[in-house]
Amino acid sequence: MPSIQTSPYSPKALKHPRSLPRSINYLLKEQRLLFILVGILIGSTFFIIQPSLSRFGPPDTHYSMPGSFSVTRREEMPISYQESRTYRVGKVAGRVPVGIGRRRLRIVVTGGAGFVGSHLVDKLIARGDDVIVIDNFFTGRKENVMHHFGNPRFELIRHDVVRTDIVGGGSDISLGLSCLTSSLQILDCDYKTNVMGTLNMLGLAKRIGARFLLTSTSEVYGDPLEHPQKETYWGNVNPIGVRSCYDEGKRTAETLTMDYHRGAGVEERIARIFNTYGPRMCLDDGRVVSNFVAQAIRKQPLTVYGDGKQTRSFQYVSDLVDGLVALMEGEHVGPFNLGNPGEFTMLELAEVVKETIDSSATIEFRPNTADDPHKRKPDISRAKELLNWEPKVPLRKGLPLMVTDFQNRILNEDEGKGH
Ligand SMILES: NC(=O)c1ccc[n+]([C@@H]2O[C@H](COP(=O)([O-])OP(=O)(O)OC[C@H]3O[C@@H](n4cnc5c(N)ncnc54)[C@H](O)[C@@H]3O)[C@@H](O)[C@H]2O)c1
Repeated sequence: MPSIQTSPYSPKALKHPRSLPRSINYLLKEQRLLFILVGILIGSTFFIIQPSLSRFGPPDTHYSMPGSFSVTRREEMPISYQESRTYRVGKVAGRVPVGIGRRRLRIVVTGGAGFVGSHLVDKLIARGDDVIVIDNFFTGRKENVMHHFGNPRFELIRHDVVRTDIVGGGSDISLGLSCLTSSLQILDCDYKTNVMGTLNMLGLAKRIGARFLLTSTSEVYGDPLEHPQKETYWGNVNPIGVRSCYDEGKRTAETLTMDYHRGAGVEERIARIFNTYGPRMCLDDGRVVSNFVAQAIRKQPLTVYGDGKQTRSFQYVSDLVDGLVALMEGEHVGPFNLGNPGEFTMLELAEVVKETIDSSATIEFRPNTADDPHKRKPDISRAKELLNWEPKVPLRKGLPLMVTDFQNRILNEDEGKGH
């Protein structure tokens, strides 16, 4: 009879899943693993597409302007996806890992209570930077930046940049917008501001290792013999004319800026700004757009100097601000023309103003001022290629956005000049 042998080794019975380690068992139960995987998938998808979603976010309320113009919102991308840059000389960091965030910059804006400066301040504050405005309120107004009072990331200092006792302390970028631009206010202090003010700010930028952006002007081209004007054109400026304190002041500011760049290694950016218009412009600064708009609202004749056939190009302020930010963050010193290449004669501009405000407005011709440039139109190929920037707001869309602001201010005649 065969004997029944019992094996000395009796295999263990197969374990039921219940006997797996408790954590795995927990995951396998009730499709929890599936839920976790789906969660991870949704999370990763969100972080990957978030930058593009931000483009559809709410409009930038700090511009407080109605309108259909589009504002480049690259700098308002989720901070974790932005390139982190330090603006100290020679240091540009790469991408920051998700979640760490863009370094908050401290930015000094001289002339920040003025027209362009205040719009730039709005943009910088909106994207999370700390901003220190230095202004002597010569043409600027507290009203332009009052909506930031109480914000701990905003400071306003009344100071004349011509004076040497300038603010110290750590700052990453310094933007030199302080200057008097208008034909009515061209004084010797204009030259001083452009030269001494720029020199002082360059000294500050050198001391604290900040990047410096100079807002120069298309006036450096004078009455141009080249059309449209490229950055390579050296200009045709009368050095002893009535406009020369502004034109030559800016040319000197550019020279000083480049000298500090080459000689002292200060990181520089130079913008050559063409005629810009928009809300918060000085009402009576003698610039042609503000002149025509204010005159049409006040039911006065539009004053055209000369035959009105001289041309200019007009850029809406949000386009300029986008260009300045792109330049500030980019890697190219410049100079860069920032302007709208659409070219209008003064008479054509007067017609657009009439269409927009009052079709019954009349035109009054006056003798032209000396050295008035015959033509002005920027060639912006360099900015298009290297800054990926071009203006988006045409004159007929931008002008109504400025008119509402002018109407309110003229109605209140509130120009207490912010002093
Ligand atoms: N708006 C344009 O069409 C245009 C065109 C070309 C260049 N720019 C340049 O852009 C910059 C800003 O122009 P804007 O149109 O805003 O002019 P703006 O007059 O409105 O602003 C200039 C600001 O600088 C301040 N300021 C002047 N002198 C100063 C000083 N010594 N110390 C401190 N603050 C001082 C003024 O009070 C004002 O707030 C200027 O440098 C100007 O030359 C403007």
